[in-house]
Amino acid sequence: MTGTQHTGSDSPRFKIEAAGIHMAFPFAGDQHGVEVLSGVSFGVAEGAFVSILGPSGCGKTTLVKVLAGLLRPVQGVVRVDGREIASPSPDRTVIFQEYGLFEWKTVRENVEFGLKAKGLPKHQRREVAQRFIELVHLHGSERKYPNELSGGMKQRAAIARALAVEPECVLMDEPFAALDSQTRQILQEDILEIWEKTRKTILLVTHNVEEAVFLSDRILMLSNIPTKVVLDIPVGLPRPRPPELRFESGFRKIADRLWHALRSEVGHGRPADKRGLKVPVSADEGAFT
Ligand SMILES: Nc1ncnc2c1ncn2[C@@H]1O[C@H](COP(=O)(O)OP(=O)(O)O)[C@@H](O)[C@H]1O
Ligand SMILES: [Mg+2]
Repeated sequence: MTGTQHTGSDSPRFKIEAAGIHMAFPFAGDQHGVEVLSGVSFGVAEGAFVSILGPSGCGKTTLVKVLAGLLRPVQGVVRVDGREIASPSPDRTVIFQEYGLFEWKTVRENVEFGLKAKGLPKHQRREVAQRFIELVHLHGSERKYPNELSGGMKQRAAIARALAVEPECVLMDEPFAALDSQTRQILQEDILEIWEKTRKTILLVTHNVEEAVFLSDRILMLSNIPTKVVLDIPVGLPRPRPPELRFESGFRKIADRLWHALRSEVGHGRPADKRGLKVPVSADEGAFT
């Protein structure tokens, strides 16, 4: 892959685009490996909030790593603004489930970290970090260390750190999965508020149907492995979205459709060896929340 190749058009259709992504991993005792991603293709428009929904073990984290440039696909390309990517970039920050904060740094130092790498002088770093700390409602906790924070606060700090560097796109891999359901809902509402203020392109990966419907403009559903996009549906619910939207019939209708589709994918994947695939069976119902 090259970092400069352009697709031809002056104004690319998508901010971020996956074209025919195949990814395989070696499997114990098998030289051929196991295909996890099998031709995953989609595009995300600039400023959109898109979720990728898929059963546990279908390759969501693998896909995020490919989109971030942390893993090179066996086949296919990822384009940002129409240009093929070849490596990770601060323009595509990733928020993982497990916070990824430096335990020995305070909240402020964590948020300032990427700004330092970007070369911002000290007084500017402080100013920008403070703005993002306030955006995620962490003011008052600037001097705390991660071990003094709750799970929700840690994830807020991770979000502030990811956004402070002003990335072009934010990739989120199940960022709320480790949180209790109450904290998760509050953070979902906060992330929507932040997105409405910043209008970054957000690609959220989740196995949680309600989370995907509540947050997104559009949802792509992945099959079980070997994984493809099997559904691509718009979420036409009005914005701003109040918390009570989760109980309304329009919301429930989309969520129910996705639930059925997702359950049928989990059914396909159990047991995987019956499909002649040499795969570890990883689609467990316990993954549904
Ligand atoms: N580095 C790796 N080496 C071998 N297999 C891997 C590796 N990373 C992921 N896998 C396998 O790929 C499949 C998809 O994993 P993952 O992307 O973590 O799924 P998800 O995030 O949807 O739960 C799983 O079967 C997993 O065991
Ligand atoms: Mg994962």
